[in-house]
Order: sequence, then C-alpha cells, then structure tokens
Amino acid sequence: MSPRPDPRPAAGGPPAEAAKAAPRPGERTAADRLAFWSRQAEELHWETRWSEVLDWSAAPFARWFTGGRLNVAYNCVDRHVEAGHGDQVAFHWEGEPGDTRTITYADLRREVCRTANALLSLGLRAGDRVAIQLPMIPEAVFAMLACARLGLPHSVVFGGFSPAALQSRIEDAGARLLITSDGQYRRGRAEPMKANTDEATRHAPSIEHVLVVRRTATEVPWTEGRDLWWHDLVDTQPDEHRPEAFDAEHPLFILYTSGTTGRPKGILHTSGGYLTQTAYTHRAVFDLDPDTDVYWCTADIGWITGHSYIVYGPLANRTTSVLYEGTPTTPHEGRHFEVIEKYGVSVYYTAPTLIRTFMKWGEQLPARYDLSSIGMLGSVGEPINPEAWRWYRKHIGGDRVPIVDTWWQTETGAVMIAPLPGAAPAKPGSAQAPLPGVSAKVVDDQGREVGRGESGYLVLDQPWPAMLRGIWGDEDRYRETYWARFAHRGHYFAGDGARYDEDGDIWLLGRVDDVMNVSGHRISTAEVESALVSHPSVAEAAVVGASDPTTGQAIVAFVILRAGATDGDAAEVTAALREHVAREIGPIAKPGRILVVPELPKTRSGKIMRRLLRDVAENREAGDVTTLADASVMDLITAGLTGRP
Ligand code: WTA
Repeated sequence: MSPRPDPRPAAGGPPAEAAKAAPRPGERTAADRLAFWSRQAEELHWETRWSEVLDWSAAPFARWFTGGRLNVAYNCVDRHVEAGHGDQVAFHWEGEPGDTRTITYADLRREVCRTANALLSLGLRAGDRVAIQLPMIPEAVFAMLACARLGLPHSVVFGGFSPAALQSRIEDAGARLLITSDGQYRRGRAEPMKANTDEATRHAPSIEHVLVVRRTATEVPWTEGRDLWWHDLVDTQPDEHRPEAFDAEHPLFILYTSGTTGRPKGILHTSGGYLTQTAYTHRAVFDLDPDTDVYWCTADIGWITGHSYIVYGPLANRTTSVLYEGTPTTPHEGRHFEVIEKYGVSVYYTAPTLIRTFMKWGEQLPARYDLSSIGMLGSVGEPINPEAWRWYRKHIGGDRVPIVDTWWQTETGAVMIAPLPGAAPAKPGSAQAPLPGVSAKVVDDQGREVGRGESGYLVLDQPWPAMLRGIWGDEDRYRETYWARFAHRGHYFAGDGARYDEDGDIWLLGRVDDVMNVSGHRISTAEVESALVSHPSVAEAAVVGASDPTTGQAIVAFVILRAGATDGDAAEVTAALREHVAREIGPIAKPGRILVVPELPKTRSGKIMRRLLRDVAENREAGDVTTLADASVMDLITAGLTGRP
C-alpha cells in the first residue's frame, strides 16, 4: 500500500480550517448519535434486526440494539468466506522461534468450526464460561471465536499472570473449561504453562476439563479424564458447524482488570454493540482497506487491546493481520522491524512504552530495515509524550504518515477518543477529540464542564455501544466505581485526568485514582500491597507508581518489616518480596524498587498519603505534610533511605 497522504500540518502549525469548523462530535444531538450507530450496526450481518437502538431505561445498565440477533463469529469469519474471500489471509502468524503459519479466512472458518464442535462434545452450552490462558498462538484466536460462536463467554487471562491470579479469575467466573498450552516461549526459552495452570485448577472445582495445546513439547503433569490434548480432541472434529444467532446483549466475554481495591473486576462485554463499535473504530481510526492493508497490533490477546483490535474488530472488517508470538527482543532487537518488512505491514499499532524502548535502542536499528510499507501508526495504553510521538513518526513512519493516539479502556471496549486521520491537524501528545457517536467531557469536582485551557476529570456523558454492561457478579461495585462520583449528572467516571487546550482538544493526563500504568498495563496499588502483606516478613506496605522514562510508571513499594525479619540481609529480603509478588500476581506486578522503612506517612484517619511517598520515590522534597498524624514520619523515612542521621 502506498502511504496515506497526511494533510495535517506539522506539530505547532495552524489547525486546518475545516477541522475547526466541523462540529465537535460531542455536540451532536442524541438522535444523531443513535442514527449514526444504527448505520454502523448495519455493516454487520444480523439474523434479526433490532427494534430499538438504545434502551437506557435501566441506566447505568445499557441495552443496545434490543431485539437484534447475530452471531459474532459468523460476522468475523463465515460471512467473508461466503462472500468469496476464503483465500484471503486472516493471519500471518509468526512464532517466537521463527516458525510461521498462514491462516486464510477459509482456514480460520474450518478451525473455528472444529473447535466449536469440540467444545460442544464436552457438553458446554450457551452461557457456560470458558477460561483461556494461552500464548499468542493461532489456537488462542480459534478458542475465542469458537466460544463466541457458541455463546460461551470467554475469560482470557494474560499468560504472564500467576496461578493464584488465574485461580481467582476462574473462580469468580465459575468457568467449566480451561484452555491452555503445555508451555510458552519467553525470550527464547520454553517455559512451563500447564504446570502452572494445574496449580490454579487444583483449587478451582468449577473446572471440569482442561484442553491443552501442544506448543513447546514440554513435559506436562496430566490428570486422566480431565485433561485433553487439543490435537486429539479438536483436530478430529468435523469441519462444519452451523452458527446460531444470539441476542445482541448475550455476554461475549469477561475480562479482568485492576481497580482501586485488591480484587480485580470482571468487566462484562456483550455482543452486538461491542462488535459494532470495535468494527467501526478499527475501520475509521486506521482508515483500513481490507483488500490492501496488512495490519499489526502488537498487544497480547490477554488484554482488551488484543480482544478488540487483534480479534473482533479486525476480523469483522476482513483484515489481513500479523499475529506475533514473541517479545520485541527475541531473537534480536530488530525483530519488530524485520516482521514489518517481511509482511509489508501498513498499519502498526503499539504502545508508547515500546516506542520509548526503541528510542533507547537507537534510530540506527529501524534504519536497517525497509519500513516503507507503513502508512499509518497507532498508539494506545498511556499518554504518548510528544518526544516519543515525534520519534515514532520520524523513524518508523518515515516522517510522512499519520499517527493516531487512541484513548480508551477495558471498560469502554473500543476506542473513544482519537484524531480521525486527515480530519484534524496533528498534535503530538493529544488524543484530541471524541469519535463520531461518542461524547466525552472534561469536568470539575462538581461535574461542571471546565473551560479551554483548564484541567479536570474525563467523563463520558452519553452511553456508547461497546460500553461495559457491568462487573461480573457485582452490580453494586459497577455503580459505585463508575457512576457514583457524578451520579447527579449521570456521567461515567473514567478515572483519568484530562485537559482542554485552547482549541478545545483533549489531552489525557494519566490516572487520578490508585491505579498505576506500567508499560501500558493497569496494576492497582492495592493489589500489590495485599500481595506484599501476605508475605510473613511484611507488617505493612504502601505502593506508588513513580514516573519512569521507559515504562511510564514504575512500581515502588515501601514496606515495614515484621520484627525478626530485619535480621537477615536487607537485599535478600527485598529480592524475596519481589519474587513473592511475581508468584501472587505475575511478573508484571513486581516492584522495581522496594524500600524498607520504619513508618508510613498517614493522616489522622489512618489513610496512607501516597502523594508523599511518590515525592520520595521520584526524589523530590516531600510536599505538604501538615495533614499527617505525625509530621516527623517523613524525616524518619528519608533519613533511613539516605543514611542521614
Ligand atoms: C490509559 C487499554 C492516555 C488510561 C486500552 C486508561 C491512555 C487506561 C491511552 C486504560 C491514551 C489508554 N492516552 N492514556 N491513548 N490509552 N490510556 O483498561 O489511563 O488496559 O484509563 O485499556 O490506560 O487501560 P486498559
């Protein structure tokens, strides 16, 4: 594909007149918005058309496209084959060790049908939950689509999560089946997976079967009668399966994400609205041409970005994608560029943390490869700093392609705020404006919209099709977390700070709650704290996210050790604590630094003042300490750390 023209002036240039004159999507009427989404839904195949676009009468529980019936997997797979595109490549799969697989839409259809037949043979029926913990292999996509085809809500758990984290997710969802693999490749090594998932399922009685993909030929523990090999069960199934249509609001998946407490939330997404918005946003934001583009989203399917922009959105749009199993460093640091060159990737969608890592490695690396196929770049996961934006555009985008900075969340299901290519002048670091059909505002404490040049909280003031339908099994927590703060106005509270610039464009400023963003992954301070205090050496713990030049934020933990635990070598204790957190949650939650302190700064009501700890973690003079119960605590903490008397 030839690069898309970028009509936008360079950073700092005057905004295009047309863009200024266009109405802000948020200013459209509610009726316009519903008509807009109705048109987008028509791009999908519906067995039965909806009678009402939005039923908001039970707010904040939305029902979109009520009365409509569709099959999500049929929309993502079969209809493309039926329309004569069976030979089009759905996935160029690239394994970490260099093995590859080309999967056409006809192949995908066959594999999804077989997998669906296999799940049926295990007695699974619509509504049953299936847990999936797999590396980035094609079977992960087959498994998700087979679940969607049968109306089995899936719960995909990132491969880096610990057995304990997997177990709690299986239990919360009451999953009957777990799909996993013998092992997974991690930076060139085969590491066990099944051995870990066995640890999780030992205490998860809802699991009746474990379906195991052979990936690394690693020895595995085996429970006769419960465990089944994928190649035995799936590969022998018939190639045909007739999809059944489900209600637009049939649950599609549960995806767990960190909140402000120690317990992850099972974010629930349903079928019709979710697929409508993921497909629309993928098409519009990336200006996608299914006949010519080769698209690569580098996320893991264990995260929402993988669900919406590797699986559902792209496949609904008949996209040809790259699916890559490995890490960017294996076997060498040029791996991503090599893959772009090899497949002629035209749309590349990644996270700022990786861009900053590329910057660290240096521009000579991408310069060694032919990246001229790139016509569009995307960014997601955290605010992209202008420096990374410019580097990305210059060294990956040849200084000529548009960059779309996409703001959204696990809860929103699909992109909400992003510059539409060609529609707005480029502003490095700003996600700019809500997409058509979406309405977002920046408001103050009272929920009043702030003026240009002012900051506040980002809210979504109108329902959207891909919005979460709740937290699995916890209606109250759903209302409390997202709708209580601005209940009087009916706004969804996103948990992000934001600012309007002088043109009214939106700049995201990061989380305003106790959720950290480490390499684009959401981790709650409370989750890491509860992992730390579950260790016998720890009396108390407080965790903060400190700015980090590469990962955005880094996890810094302050711990008070129990009497007796201080006898050994401090370095040994903190190393053991880091390992403990990795075991409890997963390696992504390991604190970068653990500081042993004699006290923690607390208010008179006993609340830990993380703001002051952040000052310490970022090597600043501690801010206002007047609300502390004991103001001398900060001196004690800093004295201990710097060795001052
Ligand atoms: C942050 C990932 C600024 C934000 C899709 C949000 C961003 C959280 C951006 C959701 C962006 C994501 N600019 N911040 N373009 N994209 N975020 O649920 O704080 O893993 O609330 O979804 O990531 O993270 P989640």
